[in-house]
Amino acid sequence: DLKARVRQLVDAMTLEEKIGQMCQVTVYGEELPAGIAAAVSEGRVGSIFYTGPNGLDREAQRLAIDESRLGIPLIVCRDVVHGFRTVFPIPLGQAASWDAELVERAAAIAAAEASQQGVHWTFAPMVDICRDARWGRIAESLGEDPVLASELAAAMVRGFQTPNAELANPGIAACAKHFVGYGLSEGGRDYNRAMVSTSELHNTFLKPFKASTDAGLMTLMTAFSDINGVPASGHQELLRDVLRERWGFDGVVVSDYESVTEMIAHGYSANPAQAARQAVLAGVDMEMVSLSYHDTLPAQVRSGQVPVSLIDEAVARILMLKLNLKLSERAKIGSTEVALTDESRSVAQRLARESLVLLKNNDATLPLASDTIGRVAVIGPLADEQHEQLGCWMLDGQAGESVTPLQALREALGEERVSYVRALESSILPEQEGGIAAAVKAAKAADVAVLFVGEDAWLSGEARSRAEISLPGAQAELIGAVSEAGVPVVMVVVAGRPLTIGKQVEQCGSVLYAWHPGTMAGPAIADVLLGRHNPSGRLPVSMPKQVGQLPLYYNHPSTGRPSPRKVPSPLASAGVDFDEEAKYKSHYLDVDPFPLFPFGYGLSYTSFDYGQAELSTPRLSGDQTLAVRVPVTNTGDRAGVETVQLYVQDVAADLVRPVRELKAFRRVELQPGQTSVVEFALDRGDLEYYDNNAERKIEPGDFRIWVSPHSDVAEPAGVFTYAP
Ligand code: IFM
Repeated sequence: DLKARVRQLVDAMTLEEKIGQMCQVTVYGEELPAGIAAAVSEGRVGSIFYTGPNGLDREAQRLAIDESRLGIPLIVCRDVVHGFRTVFPIPLGQAASWDAELVERAAAIAAAEASQQGVHWTFAPMVDICRDARWGRIAESLGEDPVLASELAAAMVRGFQTPNAELANPGIAACAKHFVGYGLSEGGRDYNRAMVSTSELHNTFLKPFKASTDAGLMTLMTAFSDINGVPASGHQELLRDVLRERWGFDGVVVSDYESVTEMIAHGYSANPAQAARQAVLAGVDMEMVSLSYHDTLPAQVRSGQVPVSLIDEAVARILMLKLNLKLSERAKIGSTEVALTDESRSVAQRLARESLVLLKNNDATLPLASDTIGRVAVIGPLADEQHEQLGCWMLDGQAGESVTPLQALREALGEERVSYVRALESSILPEQEGGIAAAVKAAKAADVAVLFVGEDAWLSGEARSRAEISLPGAQAELIGAVSEAGVPVVMVVVAGRPLTIGKQVEQCGSVLYAWHPGTMAGPAIADVLLGRHNPSGRLPVSMPKQVGQLPLYYNHPSTGRPSPRKVPSPLASAGVDFDEEAKYKSHYLDVDPFPLFPFGYGLSYTSFDYGQAELSTPRLSGDQTLAVRVPVTNTGDRAGVETVQLYVQDVAADLVRPVRELKAFRRVELQPGQTSVVEFALDRGDLEYYDNNAERKIEPGDFRIWVSPHSDVAEPAGVFTYAP
């Protein structure tokens, strides 16, 4: 069996060969460097980054299998984050679909494409909970909520690790990252420290990792950042006590890129030897790119500073991963060309349109009636830029294969009905002579103006934090001018993060938030604009009014002085004082603490009505289940999908609990006039929380419950009591 095979191999390995398995290298350029070729041939490398079509990783693989003493294949890794050749929406966009099934399918397609090219392991999903839109990596996240992120993270893990019958392989290994707290990077500045209580760490930030391991996760990556003062790549307590001991995770833990030796810059390790020792003791099996394992571990093991048993355990996990992934068999197949298929395009289009969030639709500006609409002026720097549709971490997709909104609208409406003015050279540049005037002219000559604004793809992702998150460049000016042209204006925002667009939302009749939708951006957006698809996307993050509100998240603990809803601003209204109700409450002098649009929010072209929720019992005890039923009716005149959300608040507890927390959600498709009774089941597991000793607990008392279309409905649907 596989275990015996692993044991046999470990027994046969020299110390250098064992440590070699724990080293991951990356190669740039057109040739395999001689030093790497020699190290691979001598069995001193365990993993290599995919090198793209130049095939250097395949050359290295040949050396590992044919030349190294034991012929152990390399595991080839790649950041397949939101697609490979077919690019799906950025993860934050996928999260806006709230559709785990489709997200899983997209990941399975990405895995199949990647493994056709010889990739065995993806560094995804990123499951960092994120509450600060300044952080560029929010684009890669599944949003701010642990329940939504957990469900989607598990779906991605299953998707990537879906067995591929055609290629006779078990899919590619998923890697949940970045363990843990990276999304808390202070001030939204990348790589910055994270401070968090034990209780919140377990209740929120660890949750999607746990869901990923429960879904059969094969690997996990440590974060760059430190958490409560200990760098994540040296964090014994979290990696050994929580991940390995408590959760029983027996997959591979890899560091982030040079994060082991970065512990020196953190001021946690004095030199590479100490960094390597701390990482191995913590349980980091493989070091990404930096060479402290390679350079220092043999001597440290020989001197007894690092127990060989830890090396053996790490190597055993790596070998087990390789055997499970059938690397030797895969190497024989080699790589085959990858191309978009009808199926991959269709899933990309479906997921992209499900990711679109309709934030405003005054006077039913949308959908545009394609038979009667007349002329449409398409305006803006993101209307026809193929690359910008794709978003960050787009390594293997081809910009030339993506379809832009302009292309799709022209295709649907005919060239003669669609005028186009780019107006601005890019989302970040100042206006070039006459661009805005030309846009206004085009809008005036049309029946509707559709503006495509937002962020170029490079403005989000790793190391792309922004201190100011309004629309960059001259876009605000462009929108202001076009909104005065006297025609209805639709604003489509293509961006990797929530932007502060309050003013522009006021200026435009309709607003569609599109994130970076991927290869099929254009057709998906056209489907929604023209009413061929009824939008159903919901915000996976709160949209701030101002950058100063960050971090902003709906499931925050209550203060002793919660703010009233309306805070007249003494700064904005020249010295008018607060009213008594708002004085000495938790808000800012210049803005209230509420979002522009709350978590879970999104409109549809139809309307839904929620009836009275029914609770099966007012009193839940022991291991009983509480059923919550609510009738939801489609009261409009077209079919639509409603995402029904169940929130709970623990009214009084030993630790201050969030003002509400999502516990479950359901997407229901309803025909016009149709009513469906949506049912949820809650048990004590849903009500328990972790305290500051990392113990799960529940106390007797009242719980408020909301069944609502988003996180900001004031009145609870009911209250029940938990009595053990
Ligand atoms: O997977 C990534 C990680 O998210 C950030 N640093 C580099 C890794 C490998 O590309």
